[in-house]
Amino acid sequence: MKLLFDRIDEPGLNTLPVYEARGGYESLRKALAMPPEAVLNELEASGLRGRGGAGFAMGKKVSFLPKGAMDKYLVCNADESEPGTFKDRELMQKSPHMLIEGLIIASYAAGANRSFIYIRGEYVLQADMLDAALHEAREQGYVGENILASGHSLSLVVHRGAGAYICGEETGLLDSLEGKRGNPRLKPPFPANQGLYQGPTLINNVETLATVPTIMRMGGDQYAKLGVETSTGTKLVSVSGHVQRPGNYEIELGIPSREIIYGLAGGPPEGREVKCWFPGGSSSPVLTADELDVPYDFNSLAEVRSMLGSGAIIVVDDSTPILDVALKVAKFYRHESCGKCTPCREGTNWTVKMLERIDSGEATPMDLEIMASVQEHIMGNCLCVLGDAMAMPISSMIVKFREEFEAHMQAAQARARADLGVADAALTAADALSAEGAAAHA
Ligand SMILES: Cc1cc2nc3c(=O)[nH]c(=O)nc-3n(C[C@H](O)[C@H](O)[C@H](O)COP(=O)(O)O)c2cc1C
Ligand code: SF4
Repeated sequence: MKLLFDRIDEPGLNTLPVYEARGGYESLRKALAMPPEAVLNELEASGLRGRGGAGFAMGKKVSFLPKGAMDKYLVCNADESEPGTFKDRELMQKSPHMLIEGLIIASYAAGANRSFIYIRGEYVLQADMLDAALHEAREQGYVGENILASGHSLSLVVHRGAGAYICGEETGLLDSLEGKRGNPRLKPPFPANQGLYQGPTLINNVETLATVPTIMRMGGDQYAKLGVETSTGTKLVSVSGHVQRPGNYEIELGIPSREIIYGLAGGPPEGREVKCWFPGGSSSPVLTADELDVPYDFNSLAEVRSMLGSGAIIVVDDSTPILDVALKVAKFYRHESCGKCTPCREGTNWTVKMLERIDSGEATPMDLEIMASVQEHIMGNCLCVLGDAMAMPISSMIVKFREEFEAHMQAAQARARADLGVADAALTAADALSAEGAAAHA
């Protein structure tokens, strides 16, 4: 079932004429002919949950915005910096009007008149494509004053970030958009009440907003029949790592994860087995090969103590030491921590150092306990969830691959001892030589 990716590779889909020829902007016309409350009802009926990471119900989030005449903002989160995630990039590049149409409909439902697409700095091509599409949409009267004579007006600006993972966190993003350093804010107040420029703000991910035209076309109730009760609709998943056919796939929520990893992405290379996999980006706790039949939806993945996150499945096969995986993850979060909270700033750094000690043979079994306890002290104790984003996968690796960590530690210790032995032998030989030399000289 393809909704967002339906004929996504059609040539020229990024342009207005091709998009309109396929019924593009019909959902906007339909929405503008309804009262905003009715549009909101459709969004709520669809059961659409945010596709950016937290999985919060979109309709509910819109309903949190205060009612009445005031400046309200709609911000599209196109930062897409969770490792393994590259679905928004394909959507924006191939079908930018789908996002723009969704954004206009959502702004109408939310009563927002000013909007921004905050796109990660590295997405230069996608920002250009969005700008070009926006120009066409403005010319056609879909964006600007009194859209299609509905009385609804919307300004829309594409704003490029400067390349920091933390600017994907919604409040860090807002600070960055305001021209400040992108640091997360203390919540509450939540953006719905005090967001951009202290005004009520709705923030949604690219895929979430791009799904809105489909919901308006199908009707919320019909959309809710797709997927499973608690995770309706389809989802774009980015599959990467040790698979034969990496890429973006659109799936109906609730299908077995095995069908995605083996069926769509072709599974690991010949002769290799799945060792572990991240179901929702590098911040999701890892699952093992025994957990491949878990249905791919928000609640089922939560039941096995992981999460759907951004929908980025990273597969690791049995050729990779778990320590390498853990180090890669920990180094990324250490680098991206904004440094504001001690558990995150220090905890990410300690974790990297402890993993390096295991690798170099300096660690003792107690280090593994300390490392596990550091993760526990990070979780739930920070301003934003970047700290947890490292602690959750690292904890899961310690629990599920403890024996491998211990074996790695012992092998590294043996290597270090052997190296020491060689060094001692070399020293003894050198001592003997100098003693001989001294004797000869005497
Ligand atoms: C450290 C961090 C990075 C994040 N990065 C992104 C991102 O790149 N894109 C995104 O849509 N959401 C990201 N999020 C989630 C956002 O804070 C927010 O929940 C999301 O944009 C809301 O949109 P949604 O409800 O449509 O999912 C991130 C969260 C955290 C804590
Ligand atoms: S958890 Fe980390 S990234 Fe988030 S605010 Fe604290 S220090 Fe910054």
